[in-house]
Amino acid sequence: MTLEHNRRFHDVPLAQADLQRHIWMQMQRAAFDKFHEWHTPALATVDAQGAPQARTVVLRQVDVMAKQLAFFADKRSTKVAQVQAQPRASLLFWSTRLKWQLRVQVNISVLTSGARVEAAWGDLAQSPAAADYLSTTAPGSPVRATDAAANNAPQLAVLVADFIEMDWLELAKSGHRRAHITSNSFDWLAP
Ligand SMILES: Cc1cc2nc3c(=O)[nH]c(=O)nc-3n(C[C@H](O)[C@H](O)[C@H](O)COP(=O)(O)O)c2cc1C
Repeated sequence: MTLEHNRRFHDVPLAQADLQRHIWMQMQRAAFDKFHEWHTPALATVDAQGAPQARTVVLRQVDVMAKQLAFFADKRSTKVAQVQAQPRASLLFWSTRLKWQLRVQVNISVLTSGARVEAAWGDLAQSPAAADYLSTTAPGSPVRATDAAANNAPQLAVLVADFIEMDWLELAKSGHRRAHITSNSFDWLAP
């Protein structure tokens, strides 16, 4: 997407379908473009006390047709336990370039085995991130000098996030715009 394209895009009133397509296209690009500002959204879950817990994650995969996003995590991590107890979660994206904030409500399923996890590990294993999933100690546990650095059993979980609804906000000098979008509805809202 060139800057010129973005400028023209902002100048024309958008059909709702065009806007939705553009939002999903940006998410799809962000999954494979590590310089895209949406590559690292915040994932907010709820802990056992009902308190919100947000952290940065890498957006790994986006399936536009299935309206599905995917993330990787250590299966022993707190976030995995949280979504197993309460699958409803929220993703927060902000792009200075687009001047777009996106808040996405999702339902998360945790996969720890099977073809999708094996395929994900196949991609990850050759990358520097592989070490993150080979640690013998669970994330968040105290660091001890005797801990071994790594073993050979990956602790990878694929978090599959099914889209429920989104709140899109665009900041613009000409007037901010906001929309609430579900799979079968679109409503303009006061920003
Ligand atoms: C730029 C960035 C990217 C990150 N990507 C991931 C990720 O893809 N998956 C992940 O589990 N943690 C990722 N983290 C670490 C999490 O933000 C968090 O600190 C860690 O997973 C522990 O979270 P939890 O205790 O809530 O499970 C990332 C952190 C940063 C700063």
